[in-house]
Amino acid sequence: MPTVNVASGDITAIAADAIVVNLFEVVTSPAGGTGAVDRALDGAISSLIADGDIKGKSGEITLIHAFGKLPAKRVIVAGLGKQSSFGLDEVRSLSGNVARYLRRHGIRRAATLAHGAGIGGLDTEAAAQAIAEGTMLGHYAFRKYRSSANGDQPEKELDELTIVEHDPAKLDALRSGVATGALLADCAILVRDMVNEPANVMNPAKMAEIAANVAREVGLDITVLGREEMMTHGMGALLAVAQGSANEPRLIVLEHHGDPSDPSNNIAIVGKGVTFDTGGVSLKQAAGMWEMKSDMGGGASVIGAMRAIGRLKPKINVFGVIPAVENMPSGTAQRPGDIVRAMSGKTIEVDNTDAEGRLILADAISYIKQAKKANRVVDIATLTGAIIVALGHVTTGVMGRSQPLIDAVLAASKATGEKMWQLPLHDEYKEQNRSDWADVKNTGGRPAGSITAALFIGEFTDGVEWAHLDIAGTAMSEKERGWIAKGATGVPMRTLVRLVRDLSKS
Ligand code: BES
Ligand code: MN
Ligand code: ZN
Repeated sequence: MPTVNVASGDITAIAADAIVVNLFEVVTSPAGGTGAVDRALDGAISSLIADGDIKGKSGEITLIHAFGKLPAKRVIVAGLGKQSSFGLDEVRSLSGNVARYLRRHGIRRAATLAHGAGIGGLDTEAAAQAIAEGTMLGHYAFRKYRSSANGDQPEKELDELTIVEHDPAKLDALRSGVATGALLADCAILVRDMVNEPANVMNPAKMAEIAANVAREVGLDITVLGREEMMTHGMGALLAVAQGSANEPRLIVLEHHGDPSDPSNNIAIVGKGVTFDTGGVSLKQAAGMWEMKSDMGGGASVIGAMRAIGRLKPKINVFGVIPAVENMPSGTAQRPGDIVRAMSGKTIEVDNTDAEGRLILADAISYIKQAKKANRVVDIATLTGAIIVALGHVTTGVMGRSQPLIDAVLAASKATGEKMWQLPLHDEYKEQNRSDWADVKNTGGRPAGSITAALFIGEFTDGVEWAHLDIAGTAMSEKERGWIAKGATGVPMRTLVRLVRDLSKS
């Protein structure tokens, strides 16, 4: 993993394998640090611009050899896109693209301008944070199980990216932004590693073990409930999902006591931790089923967020809750038509054993309400295929019953670049979850499947402010793009941390 540093000085004086400069679209003569590099190169950048070979478009990366005119071997010109649509998202994304470009070219040590912090007009600290996040997250690849026996080349990695700044007044802000960005990227990488890990390794006990390591590392309290304690608490819905698997369930609770004098200043983040979702007896089809190793992505994002929260210590009490189970078909598995009693006392008709996420979240939410008097709950779940139909692989669906909390989630997502959009929870949809035999049914049919799933969870959120994030489309990516790598994305860990920090101030 590359480290990102800050150094004071002039980028034209830096000896590195490459220096990275930038350019807005349709700028004819480069200014600032890019201008200085252009002059040192006897106008090479401006003549490439004049010839139309460099346009400054977003995503455009051009490599120029310095041929001894600079201490650095190569100059990389990264396009910033149009100045009118420029922002932190472009900086994060560009940094990810550049990190992979550098790796592909075997560049180990590079220096860069603080994209956006100069002519771009962005806040210096925020720009540095975005560079660190984009670089570390874009460079990430899950290579743990690939060996040279596979014919893979032992690829050179980017070791170090130094942000070079000539204005000494900006150094402190740059350093602090890089520190925050590196911490968040590091925690998002923990999330990605957990999600990419196959389900023969990442089972409920393993999730609890990782959570315990995180708790020890950053100083959080941890409680882990097993099957016996779940029975004592009457968690019939969570236990029903778990009963088909030989891997025992765990209910993991991490606690950050950031405001001990005011216990009511709290929030619970509750993440679905289905370590593999076969569908149970309502078995999924074989094609693509391997992706269901990512069905604990919500839970992993909560563990990653709690790690960052433990380090950043916001003045608010935070409970990270992860119901961790495996959804398997077996002789002990639950059946369609089974009726179970949730911890809240409500009875549930299990119409489809593949709608298991909402069952485990129901009991996890009831537990944290009762055990810790949580008064705000945000749940995060790879909950429905329907959210992929609605929003594709770009945008997380946000629903809930507290508009202020939803607005806070959406505002946090704007700051982190993890795109989110709200869907409505109109009462009219509720009748789809009605059961002939029990208080509620765990499926609502095909129409508005993400909304009826959310409304089911809403049956267990009485008395708390509640928001729900459906990340079924955004927890994994088929391709790399900007700060997103192939496989697990780490979404929405950074948004959860931002939300908690924002709430701790207001
Ligand atoms: N884990 C799945 C949802 C999912 C689908 C996540 C695709 C990631 C990618 C969830 O448990 C599920 O199976 N949902 C069902 C619900 C249905 C049976 C009501 C679905 O969406 O089909
Ligand atoms: Mn399922
Ligand atoms: Zn699932």
